[in-house]
Amino acid sequence: MPLLVLSQKSCNSIKIKRDEINQMKKTKVSIGLSNPKSPGNVGSVMRAAGNFRVDSVFYTGIRYPLALERNSVTENLRRKVSHDIPLSGVSSLLEAAPDNTEIICVEYALNATPLPEFQHPDNAFYIFGPEDGTLEQAMIDQADAVVYVPTTGCMNLAATVNVVLYDRLIKSYAGTGSNSIENNQRIRQNRDTNNNVKVR
Ligand SMILES: C[S@@+](CC[C@H](N)C(=O)[O-])C[C@H]1O[C@@H](n2cnc3c(N)ncnc32)[C@H](O)[C@@H]1O
Repeated sequence: MPLLVLSQKSCNSIKIKRDEINQMKKTKVSIGLSNPKSPGNVGSVMRAAGNFRVDSVFYTGIRYPLALERNSVTENLRRKVSHDIPLSGVSSLLEAAPDNTEIICVEYALNATPLPEFQHPDNAFYIFGPEDGTLEQAMIDQADAVVYVPTTGCMNLAATVNVVLYDRLIKSYAGTGSNSIENNQRIRQNRDTNNNVKVR
């Protein structure tokens, strides 16, 4: 039926368009977590990494692996969407920074740039501090940029990661236009299987 053929064509062209965009942009995004302690937070960060198409996640310190060992029944917040994203323990985030990425420290640091004013580089390594601490001054000194989110108080670590990645998403989205076929295709792909609601 012509309608089916058309709809299949639309799906194919959407896929090709996305592949082309990814190919054209060739952006690299990684996340660094400095000495995180909570498996719940790291799991939520991995979920964010999957949702926002991050390439890799690195962490330092032994608190996260120790906490995992101690509590083997920790709820796995990672979700399927992030399963092909590598999560690696490293001794130094700066040394682990993927080639040709700019180091962006996310911290309440004096003179930091407010996130709404920040232009994200194509290739970025975003580094976040621990739940109960602050990024070290030596790390801040090495950064290409330091940004903070102008919230009223300090956010949860995983929440901050989501906010920064969403800010990157909307700024890269601006000007690309909105296509309702593509939007619905994305919604169908990503919502729960039992979700059938629509805007009438
Ligand atoms: C729970 S916070 C730790 C406390 C924080 N260092 C402070 O001085 O208030 C954990 C990490 O989340 C990030 N973070 C949380 N809220 C933030 C904000 N509003 N702006 C920038 N970074 C934030 C930072 O990377 C921070 O190190």
